[in-house]
Amino acid sequence: MTTKSADLTELDALMKDRHSCRAFRPDPVDRDVIEQILRCAQKVPSWCNAQPWKVTITSGAETDRLRNALTEAAMAGGHAPDLSFPDGYSDEYQARRRECGWALYEAVGVTKGDRAGSARQMMENFNLFGAPHCAILSSPAELGPYGAMDSGGFVAAFTLAAQAAGVASVAQAAVASFAPMLHEMLEIPQDRLILCAISFGYADPDHPANRFRTTRAPLPEFTDWRG
Ligand SMILES: Cc1cc2nc3c(=O)[nH]c(=O)nc-3n(C[C@H](O)[C@H](O)[C@H](O)COP(=O)(O)O)c2cc1C
Repeated sequence: MTTKSADLTELDALMKDRHSCRAFRPDPVDRDVIEQILRCAQKVPSWCNAQPWKVTITSGAETDRLRNALTEAAMAGGHAPDLSFPDGYSDEYQARRRECGWALYEAVGVTKGDRAGSARQMMENFNLFGAPHCAILSSPAELGPYGAMDSGGFVAAFTLAAQAAGVASVAQAAVASFAPMLHEMLEIPQDRLILCAISFGYADPDHPANRFRTTRAPLPEFTDWRG
């Protein structure tokens, strides 16, 4: 039997408490806390222990420079992610996507058909929801989907480690829409795929965008037991 090093109930509580934060206070997170989160997150498994993730982390004026550049790029249009966005969402995936989208819109007071309101909320992605820090995640292009898969584990671990440190976060594929600009601005080499961003900082708990929680499918919806 594997030696038990943590309590599953406690881990489950941590996982339940973590949620995507979409409104932050401006206060920065201490560098040593960020480093602790990174050291914790990097303990995830990766194929061949390649640890393909790299994170470009912004603070202070650099985060402001990033949100300004993203907002400008979004207003100009021209979606160009390194990693193809999904072709579509069907069936239960579409239903879950709609449910979480509407939960957010409802929380911030955007009603059905309010195109200006939903566009305004979408643009908050590029404002990094007011977060004081943003981590841009990349993996080597030559590792392909498995590099991205390993990095997905890193994203999950980062957000959980952050939660354990009292730091709120949100993963953002939206930021990766403007990969060419990010490569240039942050000097991320062209042979690395920009996967997503994680904006993080201390939550503004009273903001309406933080007042809803998503649900999860019951076990039978995603399990298939054999034997
Ligand atoms: C890879 C990835 C990309 C995401 N991209 C975005 C995004 O661009 N904008 C956003 O508001 N949320 C984004 N999210 C957050 C998801 O919407 C969120 O995790 C999901 O709705 C479940 O809610 P929860 O994180 O609060 O549990 C992303 C999450 C992941 C894992």
